Amino acid sequence: MEQRIDDLLSRMSLEEKAGQLTQYFYLGVPELPEDFDIDSLPPEHRAFVEQPKQIESAIAAGQVGSALFVKDPVLVNRLQRLAVGTTRLGIPLLFGFDVVHGLRTVFPVPLALAASWDPDLIKDVQAVAAREARAAGIHWTFAPMIDIARDARWGRIVEGAGEDPVLGAAVAAAQVRGFQGDLGAQSVLAGPKHFAGYGAARGGRDYEDAEVSDNELWNVHFPPFRAAIDAGAVNVMSAYMDLNGVPASANRWLLTDVLRQEMGFSGFVVSDANAVRSLQIQHLAADPADAAVRALNAGLDMEMAMSEAAFAHLPQAVAAGRVAERDIDVAVRRVLEAKFRLGLFETPLVDETAAEATLSSGAHRDLARTAAARSIVLLKNAEHTLPLTPSSLRSPGSVAVIGQLADSQRDLLGPWVFDHDTSETVTILHGLRQRLGEDVVAHAPGAGITERLFPSAFDQADPTILTTPADWDDDAEIEHAVQLAAAAAVAVVVVGQRQNQAGEKASTATLALPGRQLEQLQRITATGTPVVVVMVSGRPLDLRWADAHVGAIVQAWYPGTRGGEAVADVLLGQVSPAGRLPLQWPRHVGQVPMTYAHYRTFEPENAGSRYFEEPSTPLYPFGHGLSYASFEYSDLRLDRDEITVGQSTTVSVTVRNTSQREGDEVAQLYIHQRHGTSSRPVRELKGFQRITLAAGEQRELTFTLGPEQLSYWSAVTRGVVQDATTVDLWIGGDSTAELSTTLSVRA
Ligand code: IFM
Repeated sequence: MEQRIDDLLSRMSLEEKAGQLTQYFYLGVPELPEDFDIDSLPPEHRAFVEQPKQIESAIAAGQVGSALFVKDPVLVNRLQRLAVGTTRLGIPLLFGFDVVHGLRTVFPVPLALAASWDPDLIKDVQAVAAREARAAGIHWTFAPMIDIARDARWGRIVEGAGEDPVLGAAVAAAQVRGFQGDLGAQSVLAGPKHFAGYGAARGGRDYEDAEVSDNELWNVHFPPFRAAIDAGAVNVMSAYMDLNGVPASANRWLLTDVLRQEMGFSGFVVSDANAVRSLQIQHLAADPADAAVRALNAGLDMEMAMSEAAFAHLPQAVAAGRVAERDIDVAVRRVLEAKFRLGLFETPLVDETAAEATLSSGAHRDLARTAAARSIVLLKNAEHTLPLTPSSLRSPGSVAVIGQLADSQRDLLGPWVFDHDTSETVTILHGLRQRLGEDVVAHAPGAGITERLFPSAFDQADPTILTTPADWDDDAEIEHAVQLAAAAAVAVVVVGQRQNQAGEKASTATLALPGRQLEQLQRITATGTPVVVVMVSGRPLDLRWADAHVGAIVQAWYPGTRGGEAVADVLLGQVSPAGRLPLQWPRHVGQVPMTYAHYRTFEPENAGSRYFEEPSTPLYPFGHGLSYASFEYSDLRLDRDEITVGQSTTVSVTVRNTSQREGDEVAQLYIHQRHGTSSRPVRELKGFQRITLAAGEQRELTFTLGPEQLSYWSAVTRGVVQDATTVDLWIGGDSTAELSTTLSVRA
């Protein structure tokens, strides 16, 4: 491979090299009547129509390295033939796409997958996503999104694994392994993103700058990236925003010192879309040429360009002595290596006839159902409200399923889906009707869910996105819903946000349920019919009223193609829920950003750090999730209760299923260091295991505590330290676990 790359590099012009470092959006040629007069369009629309033709000419001239947003194998092959068949050097294109939680088979959104606390499942899910993507001709996914997020206002919290670096690192590594597998014919390159600190956007507003301390970068935001790189990620995407005053896509400390020198990353770095040209908007670069110079010199290898590429200026920058050609060669080598490793020089084309069989696989859909069921979190279950007993729900209308989201095929899929077949989605209403019968389950959509104020271009382009009709009569719809609920034996009230109220450009200033959903829930509860709330969302929303007044609350997230069946499985007791929150669930928007792993205040028991109106505790803690089974922890013990710095000990605990039914439990190990070089958070997750226990079964679990778990990055030494100290340890079913012991670490 190296020889072939040397040979290509020796024959490439500077323009061809700059082209290899450029990735263009290819949005497809719109179908227009033959006599359509393009000049009649306004300039911005004309550019949209002309762009695909321009990209095709650039491909044929050998000036494109990669294209994104092409998912049709026939089109992939047409463009690939242009690249390998008509260009001077025949270098294949790399096709990239956002395959975030499935392609045709849509799995639960990533935050939901993280809530499964099941890295093996997550790996399997992304292996299926990779298989479908590769069958469609896609070589590379811009995923996983592994930004730590502690602010529920930020729309992209739905795409990550939540707030914790240890859970985040495990989920990141699992996703990379799933996507990339053996880098064979069923794999795609993984592109962990967005390096780094994007989840700390100021005010939770997308793309805003992030001011993040080194302490938090090294101990919280970097660990998932390190894990993804250790798992072999071939690509990393840089972030848009300014990190501590320097845009991430031109931040040499981030992209070279940390990513390459500290973390040992050897793949290629791509920018976020238009992030290089954006360096000018962000008041760093003087013009696009300057932007290209700054990005390349910082360590960015490939520009993702929506239209004109700043990297087209690289040849002049070399001539002007602002960029060294050898640095361009280093970047081109990394891109070519990725193409060789994927086998694109040998097999550039995709088998157009085989794609459909892979994309429509029943086994993939079955995995989507399993994944959804394993992701669901039972937040509250007073007096055994759940599971429902199907045998007692036989008469017509005995179950009232209320809510627009209960029967919305598109909304259940969540954001970042592009190749789905909406009609395949099993909604919550249908999932319940399949099991209980059509007549038994009555439905009313009830309160209209208000749209977000600024729909994105994607929303506008997607005809399957549901909107509340303009003539929706909320009063009448709510009244109808209340009547149905009043006549039922149980009301399943599905609340939450539409799929386009989560994701990129979907920040929110409030965590209130949109529209009149809360008022509707209050009226239904007042009828006296037992209420189960099912929430469909990609972020925590304000559930204070529901928590105080309804019997059961189920967090279903955006559960994907087979989500409705999974929700029915949980509500009807076929599956005992075992999902656990990957973040603190705030009571109120005024508490965010929030984390369980905060530092102790100087007056911890005093009211000083509290709010006037709300406790500072979350509504539900990190790691929380209930089960239909019950578990007891005992015999917490250390192999050695005293070790020296650098040594390890084993921690064991016995977990017993004290109930009459099988269930999964997620055992979580937390630590706290009492004193040391720097102060440390009150609790930090250091290990977890999801296990299945039969009724009455007990099992001993073991965890390791050693330098990997006990070291941290200290702002005092500006490096990794492990202290001689006393460590408190807790093991249990969430971050408030009480069973504890201590470990002494000597110098
Ligand atoms: O991959 C995404 C990124 O996460 C946000 N901006 C657009 C890219 C391409 O879709």
